[in-house]
Amino acid sequence: MPAPITPLDAHPSTVEDTWLTLLPLGVRVPVRPGQSLLEAALAAGFELPRSCRNGTCRACRCRMTQGRVRYRTEWPGLSPDEHDAGEVLPCVALPEGDVTLNQPLARRAST
Ligand code: FES
Repeated sequence: MPAPITPLDAHPSTVEDTWLTLLPLGVRVPVRPGQSLLEAALAAGFELPRSCRNGTCRACRCRMTQGRVRYRTEWPGLSPDEHDAGEVLPCVALPEGDVTLNQPLARRAST
């Protein structure tokens, strides 16, 4: 009997993948090269708060508890204090290795 299909099965990992862990859901999704953290979550069937998707509105802002990111935009909408406190904008954040985000509003997308 085949294993039940999960969101991760829909996006089989490759050697190049890095991983995004979403807390408090406790799920892990692959992040393809060039994908933002938001794009990876959406592709795996999870909803995160978002609006502009270009790093300006801050709707997606949440805390990164592990890992490092770089940004697609030169000036993502975070203050230096927010950055130093571990805040990130997943819509334009590209992981540099595995990343853990704490986003209490994250949920599985309804089908
Ligand atoms: S969705 Fe607007 S800053 Fe991320």
